[in-house]
Amino acid sequence: MKLTREEREMLAGKGGNAVKKSMGILVALGEIYGAEKLIDVTSVQIAGVSYDNLGDAGLEFLAEMAKDGKVKVLTTLNPAGMDLENWQQLGISPEFAEKQKLVIEAFRKMGVVTTCTCTPYFIGNSPHFGEHIAWSESSAVAFSNSVLGARTNREGGPSALAAALTGKTPAYGLHLDNNRKAEVVVEVKAEMDEELVDFGALGKVIGDKIKNKIPLITGIKKASVDELKTFSASIATYGGTALYHIEGITPDKTSATNAPGTRVVVSQEDIERAKKEMDDDSEVDLVSVGCPHCSLQEIQKLAELLAGKKVKKEFWVCVARPIKKIAEQMGYAKTIEDSGAKFACDTCMVVAPIKGRFTGMATNSAKSVYYARSKNQFKTVYRNMEKCVEIALKG
Ligand code: F3S
Repeated sequence: MKLTREEREMLAGKGGNAVKKSMGILVALGEIYGAEKLIDVTSVQIAGVSYDNLGDAGLEFLAEMAKDGKVKVLTTLNPAGMDLENWQQLGISPEFAEKQKLVIEAFRKMGVVTTCTCTPYFIGNSPHFGEHIAWSESSAVAFSNSVLGARTNREGGPSALAAALTGKTPAYGLHLDNNRKAEVVVEVKAEMDEELVDFGALGKVIGDKIKNKIPLITGIKKASVDELKTFSASIATYGGTALYHIEGITPDKTSATNAPGTRVVVSQEDIERAKKEMDDDSEVDLVSVGCPHCSLQEIQKLAELLAGKKVKKEFWVCVARPIKKIAEQMGYAKTIEDSGAKFACDTCMVVAPIKGRFTGMATNSAKSVYYARSKNQFKTVYRNMEKCVEIALKG
């Protein structure tokens, strides 16, 4: 790989130990993937923030990097293992909280904006079309590549941190024009009229059918930002897809002409079957929405649905803290909290250590169905937001 003089100096240690280590990671990655050079990035999003995933080895690595590392570009974090302010309310142990705070402190020391969310594009980390970035969280990667038209590979925690500390990433994969072309046409012949859950089901159907190929999806007449958010999470979870194109909706027009002959059809029956597959129709002791983290519109809708009512089940609303702050100004947060539902800021039902605490979860997110089953061994009930609220209100 060709390095500039500045990059060679960084690799030799001129910028300090954290920069040296970071350049080592990036150069090794670039050589594995055949990158010819490094390119500048404008934004980073780091996953692997929950102490539940990092453990003591991960914490030690971060503390080491924080001794002299400072980020060079806007960098935000993926959800942590707890609400950083109200962790007691969500039943997190003091031992876990102490370790989680050390993780966050290490990132803060490096200049990372310690807003922990999988929807950085809602809180100001929102790159524009064509920008090279280094993001980690799979739903955010799919959203940024596909909906925003920015360019990122799916980074691991260490390679995203390395990009943040150097402002660089190796030029391979989805940073290059040739690798962003659609590989299969997916024709959707379904109504897609049940808000969010149909798009979650569509992500599962397409992911199951084409795995991580890049699809050009036709037949979708309209899609809200929330629907694209949930679709991004689902297709990335079930197929490993980091980029998709939807004809007439997503911005990467060049790809639309490059899709070769393979054609896949998604029918109404496929969507209905996927919804059934994700729904065990079981007893529920946790209701959770906000995977990926809720938008302000979702919070507003939830406030309308919960106004003047009392939930009888544990109810988590996962959201970025800045969005909750706006919800407080608008009075939505008070309405939601008065109902007994709890905000889970900075975290979510998947990364928080809740295995064993619940047995059945109702959600409107196809991604959280996948992880509730595989990580936490919960039964799942997959319904839209209105029905999730109805379930929460029942004794
Ligand atoms: Fe976000 Fe957690 Fe879902 S990180 S995408 S809310 S699994």
